[in-house]
Amino acid sequence: MSKEPKEKKQDKKQLLEERAETRQIIGGNMNFAAAEAYKLLRTNLTFSLSGEEDACCVVGVTSSFRAEGKSVTAINLAYTLAEAQKRVLLLEGDMRLPTIARRLELNATPGLSNLLAGMCTWKECCQVYQSSTERKTVKVDVLVSGDVPPNPSELLGGQRMQLLVERLRQYYDFIIVDLPPVTAVADPIIACKIVDGMIIVVRADQTIRDAVSETVRQLRQIDARILGFVFNAAGEGGGGYYRGRRYYRKNYYRKYYKSYNYYGGYHGDYRSAQSAAEQKRNEKDHA
Ligand SMILES: Nc1ncnc2c1ncn2[C@@H]1O[C@H](COP(=O)(O)OP(=O)(O)O)[C@@H](O)[C@H]1O
Ligand SMILES: [Mg+2]
Repeated sequence: MSKEPKEKKQDKKQLLEERAETRQIIGGNMNFAAAEAYKLLRTNLTFSLSGEEDACCVVGVTSSFRAEGKSVTAINLAYTLAEAQKRVLLLEGDMRLPTIARRLELNATPGLSNLLAGMCTWKECCQVYQSSTERKTVKVDVLVSGDVPPNPSELLGGQRMQLLVERLRQYYDFIIVDLPPVTAVADPIIACKIVDGMIIVVRADQTIRDAVSETVRQLRQIDARILGFVFNAAGEGGGGYYRGRRYYRKNYYRKYYKSYNYYGGYHGDYRSAQSAAEQKRNEKDHA
């Protein structure tokens, strides 16, 4: 008998588990602390961008490495802005490791790459993510990345992309662009052409300080506007242990935060990330 059905079953199980896990931390299912942290992020972002009140703001979300919470942050930021009656588009600019369709239970194709290649129309690829709670329903337009292209950087940096974003600016108050990590590929640097500013996600107990430094350096080098940092998955400020930890971590990155906005952020319990970070630190200590 072939092995495939078993593997497929496992894949499906993994997908369902991932969906269940993600569902807990996005949109209307965010816990109270997370929802408040995102509201603070929304307020700070609106202040940072004030002066351009009527204009659409295109905000890129990036970080140093993968799995630091860029996509989760981009989704929740888009949701929180839409909750405040803003017209929002969540644009998946990470064409290499797309996750948004899976997380939001949308069609993975067609998307941005297909649109840029002229394979579909805007109507065919723009989808709506809807999150309902007892009290409200929030809707966010989403353009997923689509089929993985052989040349993501060229597509992202191309004239078609610029024209597309310019056109979309007329219809939205905010376009939130989920980008790949800065230290891995050139895409976020290339995408600076189309965004008004960047938010850098730093994951508590995982992102190392040198990586933040390198990310900031690379963005500064091309005069990108760094709007601020999101400190993702920080411990909830309730207990002393967490408070202490959060304070420590915040100070650890203070060199960077002090010159930019600091957007506190918390949600979820991050044990696996913490143990990975712990391991990384131990390795460093023993080196
Ligand atoms: N604050 C959080 N609490 C719990 N899990 C999180 C949090 N932020 C991200 N995750 C999880 O971490 C993993 C990586 O997040 P993701 O947003 O895809 O990272 P990136 O886009 O930076 O690669 C996902 O499984 C996501 O569900
Ligand atoms: Mg991502």
